[in-house]
Amino acid sequence: MCGIVGYLGSNGAYEILIQGLKRLEYRGYDSAGVALVTPAGDLNVHKSQGKVANLEQVAAAGCIDGSLGIAHTRWATHGEPNDVNAHPHVSQSGDIALVHNGTIENYSVLKTALEEHGYSFKSETDTEVLVQLIDYIKSTSNCSLEEAVREALLQVEGAYAVAVVEKNDPDKLVVARKSSPLVIGVGENETFIASDATPIIGYTDQVIYLKDNEMAVIRRDQPLAITSIDSNIPSTIDIQKLKLSLAQLEKGGYDTFMLKEIFEQPNTLRDCLRGRISSDCSHVTLSGVELNKEKFLQAERITLVACGTSWHAALIGKRLIQDFCKIPVEVEYASEFRYGNPVLNEKDIVISISQSGETADTLAAIQLAKEKGAFVYGVCNVVGASIPRNTDSGTYIHVGPEIGVASTKAFTGQVTVLTLLALAVGQLRGMVDSETVKQVATALKAMPKIIKETLKCDPEVQNISRMFTYAHNFLYLGRGYNYPTALEGALKLKEISYIHAEGYPAAEMKHGPIALIDHEMPSVIIAPSDSLYDKIISNVQQVKSRGGAVVAIVSKGNTAMNDIADYCIEIPEVPECLTPLVASIPLQLLAYYIAVNKGKNVDQPRNLAKSVTVE
Ligand code: F6R
Repeated sequence: MCGIVGYLGSNGAYEILIQGLKRLEYRGYDSAGVALVTPAGDLNVHKSQGKVANLEQVAAAGCIDGSLGIAHTRWATHGEPNDVNAHPHVSQSGDIALVHNGTIENYSVLKTALEEHGYSFKSETDTEVLVQLIDYIKSTSNCSLEEAVREALLQVEGAYAVAVVEKNDPDKLVVARKSSPLVIGVGENETFIASDATPIIGYTDQVIYLKDNEMAVIRRDQPLAITSIDSNIPSTIDIQKLKLSLAQLEKGGYDTFMLKEIFEQPNTLRDCLRGRISSDCSHVTLSGVELNKEKFLQAERITLVACGTSWHAALIGKRLIQDFCKIPVEVEYASEFRYGNPVLNEKDIVISISQSGETADTLAAIQLAKEKGAFVYGVCNVVGASIPRNTDSGTYIHVGPEIGVASTKAFTGQVTVLTLLALAVGQLRGMVDSETVKQVATALKAMPKIIKETLKCDPEVQNISRMFTYAHNFLYLGRGYNYPTALEGALKLKEISYIHAEGYPAAEMKHGPIALIDHEMPSVIIAPSDSLYDKIISNVQQVKSRGGAVVAIVSKGNTAMNDIADYCIEIPEVPECLTPLVASIPLQLLAYYIAVNKGKNVDQPRNLAKSVTVE
């Protein structure tokens, strides 16, 4: 949700900021803007509704000088996406510019107070209130910019990552964060700040993840100063080495990031599995489980919390953990859990699943779980994100940066890690027999090859997609392990093609949704040769007998469905618990091609952002 980037150094800031914004565009693309401070102390602000490319056109007509600047790409919360509401926001005096990611909850109270002091507002945003407040404090108490920022933030309720510059000071950049992420890149005579590390890659691999409630004052030719916002006490500066490369941020010859990420899955799963299965496939090791054996042995219940696609992975995780560990498992939407007064104690384990590691609801859920005494474990992709830093322990999925807004490789990475976790904990608790471990671990180890094989369905799926480009509704049906796969397939289609789609447990269809079925309502049915195959066949027949078209995902060699379904897509046969990994591939491709056929921007679907850092 919104991306911010800033630069202070010896090079021109503009190009660096624009490139940074492009890398952060997945966080929001409602508007973009940049503020530059010239060496002479002028402040030039350019902003535009829409994508960064629009901003470039606008900025080309103005002054883009300066080696200090801040920039922003917006996902609208307060106020519609337009030029006026675009960041940076400038104070009434024209002296201070600010970019903000987050939400100021008490903005209306602060706004009324500022209006009484003669401030007027141009935008409908909560952010403009913050810049005016800083301006008011600075002008009335004659203090430094950083003191005014600190004082203002102490009056603010909500979440923020902010970067602030001042017209008359081309040598200073002030940043702060609370509940929204902020990374500082430390280069040779230059400093970068950004919502995540992607804008920094290629300039420096030395980064500092600002902690919650910290602010930093970056001065030209002077050491960086980090303090806590509340107490002004200096913090220890922990510089870490960034392990991301530029190649990971590029499309690598594919038309879109989403297609690249779908086709990357054989490699991403290899990275995800590396070092976690013994050579004879008899044992699974996750260091997060090893280091916390007691917690996993004593656990009486596991609760999985997540949002969106990660929540679908959690539903699969529930089946895996129940099957292999025989522990009761619950799955909660993080947004419901956090307000649901959950009953937890020290015998509970709460596992949070998140690609970005910054999802506001998931972060709040783990905070609550910790307060209630539960042991909190994170399954995350982005290294160093807020969730891994706020959990007691965890496992990274290691699938590399996911840039397409619709999650693909992160989903399969999450399901893979949850399978490993279920096996590791099951072994620890003596609840899974060695034959099962060997069978599942062997298939898991072969998963990169199996996914590569599965991806061969690409041309066939592309053909099938043409039959459904103009459908208005879709039903996705699955049972057992593949009910969540159906939910995920439907979500992918909704997100990028804007076609309404519902995922449903196949057997539940006859309790209501069957009324929707006619020749205009296609169904995608996930029907691998598993323990529920015979059951699902009758569900397919129920759809067909009401005139609905059926696309069936079936195991290779299963020809029985050919006579019933309109289209069959074959997937390799794998143990039942691994079928979601394989079946999700044609579903990702189907959503992708339908969206492309409709001319949609699959990497940046409307109204969505990659990292949902607001409630
Ligand atoms: C769907 C999608 C979202 C995310 C959700 C949670 O394709 O990407 O539904 O899964 O916003 O995000 P993370 O996993 O970053 O917590």
